Amino acid sequence: MPVITNINDLKKIYARRAPKMFYDYAESGSWTEQTFRENTSDFDQIYLRQRVAIDMTGRTTATKMIGQDVSMPVGLAPVGLTGMQCADGEIKAARAAEKFGVPFTLSTMSICSIEDVAENTTKPFWMQVYTLKDDDFMQRLFDRAKDAKCSAAMITVDLQLQGQRHKDLKNGLSAPPKLTVKSVTNMMTKVQWGLGMLGTKRRFFGNIVGHAKGVSDPSSLSSWTSEAFDQALNWDRIREFRKMWDGPLIIKGIMDPRDAREALNVGADAIIVSNHGGRQLDGAISAIRALPAIMDAVGDKIEVHLDSGIRSGQDVLKAMAMGASGTYIGRAFVYGLGAMGEAGVTRALEVIHKELDSSMGLSGRTDVGKLDRDILMIPKGFAGDWE
Ligand SMILES: Cc1cc2nc3c(=O)[nH]c(=O)nc-3n(C[C@H](O)[C@H](O)[C@H](O)COP(=O)(O)O)c2cc1C
Repeated sequence: MPVITNINDLKKIYARRAPKMFYDYAESGSWTEQTFRENTSDFDQIYLRQRVAIDMTGRTTATKMIGQDVSMPVGLAPVGLTGMQCADGEIKAARAAEKFGVPFTLSTMSICSIEDVAENTTKPFWMQVYTLKDDDFMQRLFDRAKDAKCSAAMITVDLQLQGQRHKDLKNGLSAPPKLTVKSVTNMMTKVQWGLGMLGTKRRFFGNIVGHAKGVSDPSSLSSWTSEAFDQALNWDRIREFRKMWDGPLIIKGIMDPRDAREALNVGADAIIVSNHGGRQLDGAISAIRALPAIMDAVGDKIEVHLDSGIRSGQDVLKAMAMGASGTYIGRAFVYGLGAMGEAGVTRALEVIHKELDSSMGLSGRTDVGKLDRDILMIPKGFAGDWE
């Protein structure tokens, strides 16, 4: 086993071990992938200010997200089909997260169901909810999350329709994978993955199959989203969802200060500045570039979290120093999961934690909850001066 020192090491192993269909599903952005690329490259434009001869002992990365203790401000973002990257993937990722002391968010589009994850973990996790037309399904999803003792709901508001990922169409992405000559030939080379999949019964969308009515092809993500997702979504509808869930609420997928204010008015406890990891509106700016305007608009009234593009602890440090009070990783944990299952997710968290802790120390700071922009060198006009 090679020595794993950074997230890219895990990605390389993941690329070898996961079927191409699922690797491509994770490693894609929508259309030209401009936003997907810039989510990561824009982090590189922000510099950290090196400080020396400042006592860096007694550092802590522990803080709170929506009032809940976290060992570092890095949650696992909801990722659909996680249980196809590795058998029982959601359970494995949730276990790694709970041992590490960070939140795990289960996607509506997961393979393991809410109940599966609750039965196989000991601490509350968070439940991500898509905005669907079917009220009964929505209410039951919130109720099931409540029964499973989920300690927050996360409503994703940036997927009224699905951004097109070319590779998913070309690969015929589905869960379980459709058996074509091409997909079988590829899967036969992924022995560990295949053995895992043979050993689990969790191969379908666990929260959907048997729970949603009138879905003609429950294996297809694109047919499900086009049939069930609500293109007519508006803030009144989101207010109705707010009434269906009386626990802590996070609204995910905010990129504009006006939408941030709307989310605040709905009564959310936190918002996530996110462009869905560059998978929805291609041509949108990166999440880190969108953060300053949103901090200015609502930063003193609501917790602002961020995801999209985080691949290192330095990225987390930059987002936190710009005012975020929490971050999430999507692909970075999927790489770990696809590479080495639960141990790989733990490794991804360890890598990011070490980078965050050391870089914070080298910036002359000791408490992740007390960072500010002084440790950053942000190019003039980074947030944009748009016509
Ligand atoms: C493969 C994949 C599947 C995703 N599925 C969901 C989902 O089901 N629900 C959701 O709210 N976001 C979903 N997202 C978006 C993530 O929650 C998160 O916003 C994104 O991954 C952050 O960007 P990063 O991957 O660069 O960290 C998905 C992202 C990826 C990469």
